[in-house]
Amino acid sequence: MRITMIGAGYVGLVSGACFSDFGHDVTCVDLDQKKIERLERGQIPIYEPGLETLVAENAKAGRLSFTTDLASAVSGADVVFIAVGTPSRRGDGHADLSFVHAAAADIAKALDGFTVIVTKSTVPVGTGDDVERIIAQTRPDADFVVVSNPEFLREGAAIEDFKRPDRIVVGLEDQRARPVMEEVYRPLYLNQSPLMFTGRRTAELIKYAANGFLAMKITFINEMADLCEKAGGDVQAVARGIGLDNRIGSKFLNAGPGYGGSCFPKDTLALVKTGQDFDAPLRLIETTVAVNDHRKRAMGRKVISACGGDVRGKTIGILGLTFKPNTDDMRDAPSIAIIQALRDAGAIVRAYDPEGMEAAKTVLEGVQYAKDAYDAANGADCLVLVTEWNQFRSLDLKRVKQAMTAPVLVDLRNVYRRHEVEAAGLSYVSVGRAQ
Ligand code: UGA
Repeated sequence: MRITMIGAGYVGLVSGACFSDFGHDVTCVDLDQKKIERLERGQIPIYEPGLETLVAENAKAGRLSFTTDLASAVSGADVVFIAVGTPSRRGDGHADLSFVHAAAADIAKALDGFTVIVTKSTVPVGTGDDVERIIAQTRPDADFVVVSNPEFLREGAAIEDFKRPDRIVVGLEDQRARPVMEEVYRPLYLNQSPLMFTGRRTAELIKYAANGFLAMKITFINEMADLCEKAGGDVQAVARGIGLDNRIGSKFLNAGPGYGGSCFPKDTLALVKTGQDFDAPLRLIETTVAVNDHRKRAMGRKVISACGGDVRGKTIGILGLTFKPNTDDMRDAPSIAIIQALRDAGAIVRAYDPEGMEAAKTVLEGVQYAKDAYDAANGADCLVLVTEWNQFRSLDLKRVKQAMTAPVLVDLRNVYRRHEVEAAGLSYVSVGRAQ
């Protein structure tokens, strides 16, 4: 199969590399000339475990190439994926579809022979219809089908998620696309991954429903954590106690500082807007968005209260800045709101993150950067674990204590146990664990 991937961002690059690894002939297209030149030299613009090797191997084998020339990449393709960004539109929270629409118009001009066009970007319900209309208007003679094939991969585990998906969702209105999509996903299909065919609008809704539900699940356990703290309970035991019920499931029940990243915040907001537009309000998601926004800053107040209610002139060490481990992505990271709240209260912030410090420098002001976790603890009045990178899971707590001015550890990811932290001479505050 000849596959063209429009957009060499997170989803486009990972999907393109994985499809080429399946044996397809893949061309990734991006408008960003510098990005394409770097990719041609084997330099990966994002931090994603395993991606560099996967790209290098498949490029070497001649199955994966990069270009800025959309027209020639599209004209020879059997399948064209649209994997461009759909950020939140400034001002109203709707998904900004301008990149998708522009890609559709560009694809239309270059179409040659029967082509399946697939939206992989997260797009609101009805976008497949828009893409179809744009292409048909631009090229009334074109022979094409538009399919929705949302992506469910997680940053930091993207390749694993792509190659071992819980399911593949394909939404189509024209059955000619079905054998083509079966061929695209053949290796996974043969591997028993469920390939689910549905209508195009339904597929678009499934993507938002999945992200909305997961965001709601996290928010639920975060509110339970607050109740556990006040009523005297252990949220981890509550999560285990409910998660063992198969109807609930144990995943995405880790209480923490609130969800962040490039997907949940923007997708929940867009889903709320879609619900309002169709006069079918999604009140649970509206509340999820509000509770999560509030929580991030509330975590800043939690740190201030762990420091006796006043952080003016105090140094706070921060461990982890990215929205989750194994990524360098700072988009909507809880650390941003937490650090802002601490700085507003007069604290000096000293932070360390294994991969996120370059990106952090572009979004955070007035933060000192440390060279490792112990350096972040150096002279600190409080150390806050915000992102659960593996290297923060087994710190030498005695060494941490010695480095600090006042030995307080605020563990916003429940990585440690109270007795081990207290045994090292630190006082300990965690999330949703009263004792
Ligand atoms: C999320 C979904 O999990 C993917 O299925 C989806 O494909 C992707 O969005 C997308 O739409 O592109 P991702 O944003 O990479 O993936 O990260 P997650 O692992 O889902 O984490 C999101 C946030 O939730 C992080 O801030 C994380 O710390 C937080 N989280 C997650 C919790 O606080 N508790 C949990 O139990 C799980």
